[in-house]
Amino acid sequence: MVRKADGKKDHDTALSCLLEANQVWAANAPVLVFACTVEALSKSGEPNKAAEHDLGIAAANLTFEAQMRGISVHQMIGILPEKVRDIYQVPDGVQPLTALVIGYAEKLAGFPAHLQERDASPRQRRELEETLFSGTWGEPASF
Ligand SMILES: Cc1cc2nc3c(=O)[nH]c(=O)nc-3n(C[C@H](O)[C@H](O)[C@H](O)COP(=O)(O)O)c2cc1C
Repeated sequence: MVRKADGKKDHDTALSCLLEANQVWAANAPVLVFACTVEALSKSGEPNKAAEHDLGIAAANLTFEAQMRGISVHQMIGILPEKVRDIYQVPDGVQPLTALVIGYAEKLAGFPAHLQERDASPRQRRELEETLFSGTWGEPASF
Protein backbone atom coordinates (compact mmCIF):
# COMPACT_ATOMS: atom_id res chain seq x y z
CA MET A 1 0.00 0.00 0.00
CA VAL A 2 1.23 3.49 -0.81
CA ARG A 3 -0.37 6.67 0.51
CA LYS A 4 -0.02 9.92 -1.31
CA ALA A 5 1.06 11.28 2.06
CA ASP A 6 4.13 9.03 1.88
CA GLY A 7 5.64 11.57 -0.50
CA LYS A 8 5.98 12.19 -4.22
CA LYS A 9 8.90 9.81 -4.75
CA ASP A 10 7.16 6.79 -3.17
CA HIS A 11 3.93 7.69 -4.91
CA ASP A 12 5.61 8.04 -8.32
CA THR A 13 7.36 4.70 -7.81
CA ALA A 14 4.03 3.02 -7.12
CA LEU A 15 2.41 4.72 -10.13
CA SER A 16 5.17 3.37 -12.37
CA CYS A 17 3.97 -0.16 -11.53
CA LEU A 18 0.67 0.52 -13.32
CA LEU A 19 0.10 0.33 -17.06
CA GLU A 20 0.27 3.88 -18.38
CA ALA A 21 -3.46 4.04 -19.18
CA ASN A 22 -4.24 3.19 -15.55
CA GLN A 23 -1.89 5.71 -13.97
CA VAL A 24 -4.41 8.52 -14.41
CA TRP A 25 -6.87 6.76 -12.06
CA ALA A 26 -4.28 6.71 -9.30
CA ALA A 27 -2.41 9.96 -9.87
CA ASN A 28 -4.44 11.97 -7.36
CA ALA A 29 -5.93 9.25 -5.19
CA PRO A 30 -4.81 9.17 -1.56
CA VAL A 31 -4.16 5.41 -1.48
CA LEU A 32 -2.91 2.80 -3.97
CA VAL A 33 -2.86 -0.86 -2.97
CA PHE A 34 -1.21 -3.75 -4.81
CA ALA A 35 -3.12 -6.93 -4.08
CA CYS A 36 -1.30 -10.27 -4.16
CA THR A 37 -2.25 -13.92 -4.07
CA VAL A 38 -0.36 -16.32 -1.82
CA GLU A 39 0.04 -19.56 -3.73
CA ALA A 40 0.34 -22.03 -0.81
CA LEU A 41 -1.95 -22.56 2.16
CA SER A 42 -0.14 -21.43 5.31
CA LYS A 43 -0.94 -24.52 7.44
CA SER A 44 -0.44 -27.40 4.98
CA GLY A 45 1.77 -25.77 2.35
CA GLU A 46 -0.56 -27.25 -0.29
CA PRO A 47 -1.40 -25.06 -3.29
CA ASN A 48 -4.34 -22.78 -2.61
CA LYS A 49 -6.50 -23.47 -5.64
CA ALA A 50 -8.81 -20.67 -4.56
CA ALA A 51 -6.08 -18.03 -4.25
CA GLU A 52 -7.44 -15.76 -7.00
CA HIS A 53 -10.99 -16.34 -5.84
CA ASP A 54 -9.97 -15.40 -2.28
CA LEU A 55 -8.30 -12.22 -3.48
CA GLY A 56 -11.38 -11.31 -5.51
CA ILE A 57 -13.60 -11.77 -2.47
CA ALA A 58 -11.26 -9.72 -0.28
CA ALA A 59 -11.16 -6.93 -2.88
CA ALA A 60 -14.94 -7.01 -3.28
CA ASN A 61 -15.52 -6.86 0.49
CA LEU A 62 -13.05 -3.99 0.81
CA THR A 63 -14.89 -2.23 -2.03
CA PHE A 64 -18.33 -2.67 -0.39
CA GLU A 65 -17.07 -1.54 3.02
CA ALA A 66 -15.35 1.49 1.49
CA GLN A 67 -18.50 2.38 -0.47
CA MET A 68 -20.52 2.22 2.78
CA ARG A 69 -18.09 4.80 4.17
CA GLY A 70 -18.39 7.10 1.13
CA ILE A 71 -15.05 6.02 -0.31
CA SER A 72 -14.62 4.70 -3.86
CA VAL A 73 -12.43 1.85 -5.08
CA HIS A 74 -11.25 1.28 -8.65
CA GLN A 75 -9.84 -2.19 -9.21
CA MET A 76 -7.25 -2.73 -11.93
CA ILE A 77 -5.62 -5.78 -13.49
CA GLY A 78 -3.42 -3.52 -15.63
CA ILE A 79 -0.29 -3.58 -13.49
CA LEU A 80 3.33 -4.61 -14.06
CA PRO A 81 3.53 -7.58 -11.66
CA GLU A 82 7.25 -8.20 -12.03
CA LYS A 83 8.00 -4.54 -11.37
CA VAL A 84 5.88 -4.69 -8.21
CA ARG A 85 7.82 -7.81 -7.21
CA ASP A 86 11.20 -6.15 -7.78
CA ILE A 87 10.46 -2.82 -6.13
CA TYR A 88 8.62 -4.14 -3.07
CA GLN A 89 10.69 -7.34 -2.77
CA VAL A 90 7.64 -9.57 -3.01
CA PRO A 91 8.83 -13.11 -2.21
CA ASP A 92 8.46 -16.20 -4.38
CA GLY A 93 5.10 -17.86 -3.87
CA VAL A 94 3.35 -14.50 -3.68
CA GLN A 95 1.95 -13.10 -6.92
CA PRO A 96 1.04 -9.43 -7.42
CA LEU A 97 -2.27 -9.57 -9.30
CA THR A 98 -4.27 -6.36 -9.11
CA ALA A 99 -4.19 -2.79 -7.84
CA LEU A 100 -6.90 -0.94 -5.96
CA VAL A 101 -7.11 2.82 -6.17
CA ILE A 102 -8.92 4.13 -3.10
CA GLY A 103 -10.23 7.66 -3.02
CA TYR A 104 -13.17 9.99 -3.43
CA ALA A 105 -15.26 9.91 -6.60
CA GLU A 106 -16.27 13.55 -6.24
CA LYS A 107 -12.63 14.48 -6.68
CA LEU A 108 -12.60 13.36 -10.30
CA ALA A 109 -12.48 17.00 -11.40
CA GLY A 110 -9.40 17.48 -13.57
CA PHE A 111 -9.69 13.91 -14.90
CA PRO A 112 -9.69 13.44 -18.68
CA ALA A 113 -13.26 13.97 -19.96
CA HIS A 114 -13.59 10.42 -21.32
CA LEU A 115 -12.87 8.95 -17.88
CA GLN A 116 -15.27 11.31 -16.10
CA GLU A 117 -17.89 10.33 -18.66
CA ARG A 118 -17.13 6.62 -18.21
CA ASP A 119 -17.43 6.92 -14.45
CA ALA A 120 -20.68 8.89 -14.54
CA SER A 121 -22.40 6.77 -17.19
CA PRO A 122 -25.20 4.38 -16.20
CA ARG A 123 -23.94 0.83 -15.70
CA GLN A 124 -25.18 -1.81 -18.13
CA ARG A 125 -25.08 -5.23 -16.58
CA ARG A 126 -25.36 -8.51 -18.48
CA GLU A 127 -28.82 -10.07 -18.25
CA LEU A 128 -29.27 -12.74 -15.58
CA GLU A 129 -30.38 -15.21 -18.31
CA GLU A 130 -26.92 -14.88 -19.89
CA THR A 131 -25.21 -15.49 -16.56
CA LEU A 132 -27.12 -18.12 -14.61
CA PHE A 133 -27.64 -21.48 -16.33
CA SER A 134 -29.51 -24.58 -15.31
CA GLY A 135 -29.04 -28.19 -16.47
CA THR A 136 -26.87 -27.36 -19.48
CA TRP A 137 -24.31 -24.66 -20.12
CA GLY A 138 -26.04 -21.81 -21.92
CA GLU A 139 -29.56 -22.86 -20.87
CA PRO A 140 -31.05 -19.96 -18.89
CA ALA A 141 -32.30 -20.94 -15.46
CA SER A 142 -36.04 -20.50 -15.07
CA PHE A 143 -36.85 -18.06 -12.32
C1 LIG B 1 -10.47 -7.57 -11.43
C2 LIG B 1 -10.75 -6.26 -12.15
C3 LIG B 1 -9.76 -5.69 -12.94
C4 LIG B 1 -9.99 -4.48 -13.59
N1 LIG B 1 -8.97 -3.91 -14.30
C5 LIG B 1 -9.12 -2.66 -14.77
C6 LIG B 1 -8.02 -1.97 -15.36
O1 LIG B 1 -6.89 -2.48 -15.47
N2 LIG B 1 -8.24 -0.71 -15.79
C7 LIG B 1 -9.46 -0.09 -15.66
O2 LIG B 1 -9.57 1.10 -16.02
N3 LIG B 1 -10.53 -0.73 -15.14
C8 LIG B 1 -10.39 -1.99 -14.69
N4 LIG B 1 -11.44 -2.63 -14.11
C9 LIG B 1 -12.77 -1.98 -14.11
C10 LIG B 1 -12.96 -0.96 -13.02
O3 LIG B 1 -12.40 -1.34 -11.78
C11 LIG B 1 -14.46 -0.72 -12.76
O4 LIG B 1 -15.06 -1.92 -12.36
C12 LIG B 1 -15.11 -0.23 -14.01
O5 LIG B 1 -14.62 1.05 -14.28
C13 LIG B 1 -16.67 -0.21 -13.87
O6 LIG B 1 -17.04 0.52 -12.78
P1 LIG B 1 -18.25 -0.02 -11.87
O7 LIG B 1 -17.70 -1.23 -11.15
O8 LIG B 1 -18.56 1.11 -10.96
O9 LIG B 1 -19.36 -0.38 -12.80
C14 LIG B 1 -11.26 -3.84 -13.47
C15 LIG B 1 -12.24 -4.42 -12.69
C16 LIG B 1 -12.01 -5.62 -12.04
C17 LIG B 1 -13.10 -6.22 -11.18
